[in-house]
Amino acid sequence: MHTELENAFELVGRAAVVTGAASGIGRQAAVTFAQAGADVVVADVSAAGLEETAALVRKQGRTATVVPTDVSDRSAVDRLAQAALDAHGRIDVWANVAGVIRYAPIVDTSEDELDLILSVNVKGTYWGCAAAARAMTARGSGSIINVASAGMDSATPGISCYAMSKSAVAMLTRTLAAEVAPHGVRANTVSPGWVPTGMTAHYWTNEDGTVDEARQRQMYADRAATAPLNRIGEPSDIAWAMLYLAADASRFVTGQILRANGGVAMV
Ligand SMILES: NC(=O)c1ccc[n+]([C@@H]2O[C@H](COP(=O)([O-])OP(=O)(O)OC[C@H]3O[C@@H](n4cnc5c(N)ncnc54)[C@H](O)[C@@H]3O)[C@@H](O)[C@H]2O)c1
Repeated sequence: MHTELENAFELVGRAAVVTGAASGIGRQAAVTFAQAGADVVVADVSAAGLEETAALVRKQGRTATVVPTDVSDRSAVDRLAQAALDAHGRIDVWANVAGVIRYAPIVDTSEDELDLILSVNVKGTYWGCAAAARAMTARGSGSIINVASAGMDSATPGISCYAMSKSAVAMLTRTLAAEVAPHGVRANTVSPGWVPTGMTAHYWTNEDGTVDEARQRQMYADRAATAPLNRIGEPSDIAWAMLYLAADASRFVTGQILRANGGVAMV
């Protein structure tokens, strides 16, 4: 069981799958895993963004396999797992990062909005967990990382579908952890606070695509003011928490929620 400190956070010789890898936190997780030594299979609906992420992974000297995937499509997720097994013969880490958000009070939420969020955030994570668990339990090792949100820790008007979906992800992860633990596989949730990414860019992006810098600055300042650590997050804050969950450093940790949120919710 002994692991040297320098090996506890490395992923050398391991294969990682990251969904939502075309942007934001998923992209940074893919690059961070590669920096730790993993070869990475990157998946997303955005094919162009995926190629950019793959280039960043290859810059770290690791292989990147690009698999355009809609995670809400179960057979597409199964094909993603098969592509990873074809490329590497193993899956050591699987991070379900793909996610979407929509804003509306419950009384105004359309069925399409609810369906979209449940399909991507809940079903997409569910199918990812199933595919990863199948591959990992067969080998007797692996780490599955799901992504929730600080939005599930307090009641925020306008994000009912999103908050509900992330609570579901957290509970799914616990059940999964209990099911796969006897097979040597771990499953945990990382729950980020507010991080500027594609998901949050609408706050300061004008209709013509230009950035309203004053609105952006104000948003950053407002969000920083709500966090005890007095700053907003950045994708690497979350990716490093994910690296801990992926690597042997967390080998005795399963079924947990790791909140990387600047202290906005201390649960
Ligand atoms: N940014 C934040 O403040 C924040 C806070 C808490 C949690 N999160 C969570 O972090 C995760 C990553 O979000 P982000 O902030 O990097 O946003 P992002 O929009 O930059 O990245 C999300 C990625 O998911 C992809 N995606 C969307 N639908 C998909 C589908 N059906 N199949 C495959 N890929 C799909 C998008 O194309 C995009 O590349 C999400 O699960 C999000 O809910 C983000």
